[in-house]
Amino acid sequence: VDPRVVARLEALNAEFYDRVAADFSATRQSPWPGWHRVLERAGPVRSVLDVGCGNGRFAALLPDDVEYVGVDPCAALLAEVPPHHETLLGGWSERPWGTRTFDLVVAFGLTHHVASAARRRALISTLRAASHGRVAVTAWRFDPARAVGWDGVPAEALEDGDYFLGFGHGDAVRYCHLVSDAELEGWFDDVLDDFVSDGRDGASNRYCVGSGASSRSNGSIRRR
Ligand SMILES: C[S@@+](CC[C@H](N)C(=O)[O-])C[C@H]1O[C@@H](n2cnc3c(N)ncnc32)[C@H](O)[C@@H]1O
Repeated sequence: VDPRVVARLEALNAEFYDRVAADFSATRQSPWPGWHRVLERAGPVRSVLDVGCGNGRFAALLPDDVEYVGVDPCAALLAEVPPHHETLLGGWSERPWGTRTFDLVVAFGLTHHVASAARRRALISTLRAASHGRVAVTAWRFDPARAVGWDGVPAEALEDGDYFLGFGHGDAVRYCHLVSDAELEGWFDDVLDDFVSDGRDGASNRYCVGSGASSRSNGSIRRR
């Protein structure tokens, strides 16, 4: 995909979240039901990286002694994360967490904002590299009949499954990709859990949990 198109779509989403941050955060106060299953099956977790964390509502499900780091390019949403948590301003591709690795890396509601299948794969490998435990992601199964028009990029530059959606009654528009089941099934070679949950119909997100690529022991065991 043309990098200029990617940049345009990312800019559209940055503008979208800047504009709707307050209303968006107000409608994102309670946890998604699927998060309970992710945590129940993750076993003991002492550190969590939440990429595209929004207002950090996932942190509320974690015991107090868990280290939580929230990453998001939207400063207005990050400002809503409870202040005792660490926040890092930036997008996933900038890896603002550096070389740190975590027990659990999550990206909820993020994959649909990443343009092109190749970049979504790059997102998954970036998340896996940041984890020595598990990685959990969701793909939003939105109804494409809700799509609106947006002429900021030429139609021929878009891929199958690319849509634009509004929010509430405002005119802010976001880029969203409807990830196909086949694509999602190719993200992890070791799928630890795969289920649908959330929303009114209990099926608005498909969850996929895999393992991290950074083994802690690789760093700590020295062989002569
Ligand atoms: C649908 S919201 C989900 C927020 C949060 N995970 C939740 O479940 O409440 C998508 C979030 O992804 C963030 N986002 C958009 N582009 C991003 C990028 N390139 N890297 C990281 N986060 C991004 C947005 O700012 C927004 O906070």
